[in-house]
Amino acid sequence: MSHGGPVLPSATRREPRGYPACSAHDISSADAGKNRAEVDPEQEPGMEVVADLSSGSSATTLLCRREGRLFYRKFVFGEDKDRLFAQTEHLIHLAQAGVPVTPILEVLRDEAHCRYDMPYRDDAVDFFTYLHTHTPGQNRAKLVTILDSLAASIHADAVPASPEAIDSYIQHKIVARVEALLGAGVLAPILAAESLLVNGIRMPNLPSLAGLLEPARLRELLAHDKCARVHGDLTVENIICCEEEGTSSGFYLIDPNGGNLLDTPLLDHAKLLQSFHGGYEFLVRLGSFSVRTEGRFAEVDFPGFISPAYARLKADLDGYLRLHLSESELTAAYLHEVVHWLRLMPYKLRSDPARAPVFYAVLVRVLHTVARRVGW
Ligand SMILES: Nc1ncnc2c1ncn2[C@@H]1O[C@H](COP(=O)(O)OP(=O)(O)OP(=O)(O)O)[C@@H](O)[C@H]1O
Ligand SMILES: [Mg+2]
Repeated sequence: MSHGGPVLPSATRREPRGYPACSAHDISSADAGKNRAEVDPEQEPGMEVVADLSSGSSATTLLCRREGRLFYRKFVFGEDKDRLFAQTEHLIHLAQAGVPVTPILEVLRDEAHCRYDMPYRDDAVDFFTYLHTHTPGQNRAKLVTILDSLAASIHADAVPASPEAIDSYIQHKIVARVEALLGAGVLAPILAAESLLVNGIRMPNLPSLAGLLEPARLRELLAHDKCARVHGDLTVENIICCEEEGTSSGFYLIDPNGGNLLDTPLLDHAKLLQSFHGGYEFLVRLGSFSVRTEGRFAEVDFPGFISPAYARLKADLDGYLRLHLSESELTAAYLHEVVHWLRLMPYKLRSDPARAPVFYAVLVRVLHTVARRVGW
């Protein structure tokens, strides 16, 4: 049945989120005697691969069946194996702190690869699917349950972040990435413009906002950031919702990410902002768009469609954050959203240069939100 409106994208992101994309599914670098044929689930007797759920990063996630039982298997060959192993430790720490996370059935690490298995539940769907198949009230309740659960467990233990951690985050996750972005040849004509029109709304272009991204200014904006254990990649795909009784929480988390340099709870909030405020899942499925540069202006137009469910959750998330964060923390949360978009830019410039201006425009738009909040 067609509803005539834009088609909802499937929940599966085709973006590398946690692991670099360069060696995707490449085992030629496996440096030990063991090769993929020896550990590939498809080669394992009695094992059947039901679906490949991988996102294009170096980690592969499969839904498998063995002896009639379904389970998820995630694996990596080569140097990223240690990061995958760290992910299993991260999951265990989150569970110990009271966060509902996927159980781990088995972990295996050798010189060439790392893999772990997780149980399959037939009542579980990711949050993207859940929120498009439930009522606004159920969606709001689910969002609040997830955020309250984090607030009462890992985020509750937050302590002020050290100046060193903040400086390192500023240098590596913001300043270096902004410098790389300002030097991107693909964006040169847009970067040369003074103002940017994003879907008809005029805002200062990135070079004009660069003062906001000076280390000293960033230190002020992040001065109140706290440090805690965080999930680190709280996307709508990494939140799995359960229908049946049995998980008292009604959800569990998968695919956490360490190595953020500054593990502030705001990173988790910012990941949800990237979805509901930034519209990430709809942007990656973008069809038509246009880019025009004329003298001092650059214009980027694209369909700003987000589903009604997303629009409501955007308001719900905003309401939640306003209630639970101070004004300066909320500003920092938007700044961390900018950082999430910044992280995406090298990948977009490499893999989809034609669409890179759209992601650039969204990044500048979020930065403009930060600028307005601090009266820039
Ligand atoms: N335990 C699980 N329960 C339900 N669904 C799962 C589970 N593990 C994986 N999945 C499904 O597989 C998809 C991909 O898994 P995962 O998020 O671990 O990898 P990824 O995002 O591709 O990897 P990475 O970000 O580590 O590169 C998830 O979005 C989800 O749909
Ligand atoms: Mg994931």
